[in-house]
Amino acid sequence: MTDKDTDASSITENQQSDLAKRVLSIKWFHHIYIPGYGLTPGPVRNSQDWLSSNLPKSFNGLRVLDIGGWDGYYSFLAEERGAVRILMIDSLQNPEAHSSGTLGFELAKETRKSKVEFKLMDVQDLDDLSEQFDVVFFLGVYYHLIDPIGALSKIFDKLAENGVVYLEGISARGRKPSLRFFEVGEIEPTTFCAGTERGLIRILENVGFSNISVIAKTRDPGRIISWVYSKVNRSGRFIKLVSGGARNLGFISDYPRILISAKKNSM
Ligand SMILES: C[S@@+](CC[C@H](N)C(=O)[O-])C[C@H]1O[C@@H](n2cnc3c(N)ncnc32)[C@H](O)[C@@H]1O
Repeated sequence: MTDKDTDASSITENQQSDLAKRVLSIKWFHHIYIPGYGLTPGPVRNSQDWLSSNLPKSFNGLRVLDIGGWDGYYSFLAEERGAVRILMIDSLQNPEAHSSGTLGFELAKETRKSKVEFKLMDVQDLDDLSEQFDVVFFLGVYYHLIDPIGALSKIFDKLAENGVVYLEGISARGRKPSLRFFEVGEIEPTTFCAGTERGLIRILENVGFSNISVIAKTRDPGRIISWVYSKVNRSGRFIKLVSGGARNLGFISDYPRILISAKKNSM
């Protein structure tokens, strides 16, 4: 079901207002197209657009595992782009952020007549799954983990030969290969670490991945903000205003983001 397949004309006014009530009672993370309603409200529109345009245009015939899928936007995207089996898992890590539980995902699944399956599961328990996948989405998740290397190792095991992982998240500044850990609450309560670009590549190599490729990077908002600050205002008010506003866009923290693909090719 694509955004163009709107079936709003076949829905009565009462049904439409019931649907609107259901949509608006949910705390959404993603902007997801709900037939008969439109796009759900959520804070991450810009990052969705950036990431969607940098992921492959076709997943035709492929089995996709979406780790930490939240409302399911990327699972539904994989379905739209031809994936035949999509499993989304999420541990619903942050009770405050996930106060609507899986209601958003369920409403989107129902209205989109989607076949995406959801399991409440921690990435560290991937061994419990008996199936394998051609593609793993690991989008916006690694830096929320205390052991991202262990998680990538489990992902490697769940991939079929020639399978591909898409790793996306914040990246730390610097040229050296490193994985930096944050103090509790330094960024926000569930962000624990950030790898430099070289660090993330080295981790993927060490786990066993090959054909590692940096697909896209966002600009470095922290650096841009600091530069503007140094030019415009030294009192501190301006930088607070700009970085606060940037965070509210839901896309940029003070860290740039990176999207990397890596292949399992153990032969
Ligand atoms: C920033 S959101 C990313 C959502 C989506 N993948 C995206 O890119 O828009 C991180 C998601 O990962 C989930 N998550 C965090 N730790 C997890 C874990 N150990 N196992 C499974 N999911 C986890 C959170 O519950 C949350 O839904």
